[in-house]
Amino acid sequence: MPKTITVHYYVKNDLEMLSATAADWITSAAEQAIAACGVARIAISGGNTPRRTFELLADPAQPFRQRIDWSRLQLFWVDERCVPPEDKDSNYRMTRETLLSKVSLPAANIVRMEGELDPEEAASRYESALRNKFRLEGAELPRFDLVLLGMGDDGHTASLFPHSAGLDSMMRLAVANHVEAKNSWRITLTWPVINHASGVFFLIQGASKADVLRNVLLGPYQPEQYPSQLIRPESGELRLLLDTTAAAKLPPAGSDGSGVLELTR
Ligand code: 6PG
Repeated sequence: MPKTITVHYYVKNDLEMLSATAADWITSAAEQAIAACGVARIAISGGNTPRRTFELLADPAQPFRQRIDWSRLQLFWVDERCVPPEDKDSNYRMTRETLLSKVSLPAANIVRMEGELDPEEAASRYESALRNKFRLEGAELPRFDLVLLGMGDDGHTASLFPHSAGLDSMMRLAVANHVEAKNSWRITLTWPVINHASGVFFLIQGASKADVLRNVLLGPYQPEQYPSQLIRPESGELRLLLDTTAAAKLPPAGSDGSGVLELTR
């Protein structure tokens, strides 16, 4: 059933401005959720783009760290490579280096995907962790307060890669997904879980993403080829935080640096 989503995109001049805005969005989402119900549950992506954002969140000289009651923040991952947590490719390791080692987030609030395990076992254990943390019953989906996504230059998001089996996993919360192009296994949240979140935003930087971003947003709906097109939040709202190079092939943003697209998919 096609649905219309409103995509707001915000264009920043450089990585520092982009990362500071992302840090503010994450901080605001945490503040609002904690104020509303005493806890914030946020799922973050890995890769390279969010590094600076996480550094800014942890930096005591920046305004973000002290705005967050870390004891009430529960941190989850959108996806993880099937490697040990100390591996250079581990998303957890990147987050530990940039953020977790610098803030007082209780260990119980860090819900790590166990990349060191057999992929399917890790996925099943993550589903159990989600059911436990969100106190899910039956077929309920977890509703994250915020999901932070990246986008690969092949149009993947999370670890939902083109033509991979994970794209069809709609009855699971998290799955093991084999990525042929990388000859490797990943653990990933499924796209229904991501779409169920209260807030979802993509953080995308770099000229290498400009063409694929235009295809994802303005091209025909072909999610097998461009899995990022599967991200259609139930809220009807999707935000993109872009630098000027990633946004280069989109309709020019307004004088305030923002633009809006209405997509029916
Ligand atoms: C991962 C990420 C992945 C990432 C994109 C963009 O595990 O790599 O979760 O989905 O967001 O690949 O990665 P960059 O930010 O490095 O371009």
